[in-house]
Amino acid sequence: MTDFREAVMGDLPHLQNLDLKGYEQQPETMDWWKSVITNPSMTCVVACQNQTPIGMVVWTHQEFQKPSPMSGQTTVHVHKICVQKGFRYRGIGSSLMAKARKETYRLKCKTMSISVPEYQCISDDPDNVSQWLHKLGFKADSVLPVPLHLYGKNYDQYLFLFEVPK
Ligand SMILES: CC(C)(COP(=O)(O)OP(=O)(O)OC[C@H]1O[C@@H](n2cnc3c(N)ncnc32)[C@H](O)[C@@H]1OP(=O)(O)O)[C@@H](O)C(=O)NCCC(=O)NCCS
Repeated sequence: MTDFREAVMGDLPHLQNLDLKGYEQQPETMDWWKSVITNPSMTCVVACQNQTPIGMVVWTHQEFQKPSPMSGQTTVHVHKICVQKGFRYRGIGSSLMAKARKETYRLKCKTMSISVPEYQCISDDPDNVSQWLHKLGFKADSVLPVPLHLYGKNYDQYLFLFEVPK
């Protein structure tokens, strides 16, 4: 059975491990992960099997930055969403996103957002998460002004939005 709860300090090694092995982007530093637990503006929910995290979602409630036409509005922005290989395709990722969506409704935000690098939006690629996001009701909105710098290359980042139904 999969349990969901807020992450605690003792989860840090598991979170770093998930970030390193399961996530397609450069892993965050230990300081960043500590701030996820200690910074009240950040939330991390973990999916656990036998009390051990095998999936995580990290979000912040933040303002859209200029030059976005939505600057001034707030969004629940998902920074990380990851499920350990071997536990995927069982609905765990969707359940983690549902936790962030619930917070979006609770905070009365009009949108929930996530940025995805271009290499994860290639059709027919097994790592194409844009299809997964479409299933969850997200739509590609725009290209972020700052590219993702990874291993010496720059990649466009697409902003995907989930609009709360009126
Ligand atoms: C993306 C990710 C979190 C999905 O987690 P998951 O637990 O496998 O997702 P779910 O089981 O909830 O998926 C539900 C549905 O999406 C489909 N799906 C899952 N991953 C998919 C993918 N990469 N592409 C297309 N469809 C996908 C499932 O088949 C399922 O479809 P169904 O409801 O019609 O049966 C997981 O693949 C992952 O950790 N990837 C690496 C990290 C990453 O890329 N994060 C996203 C960055 S934006």
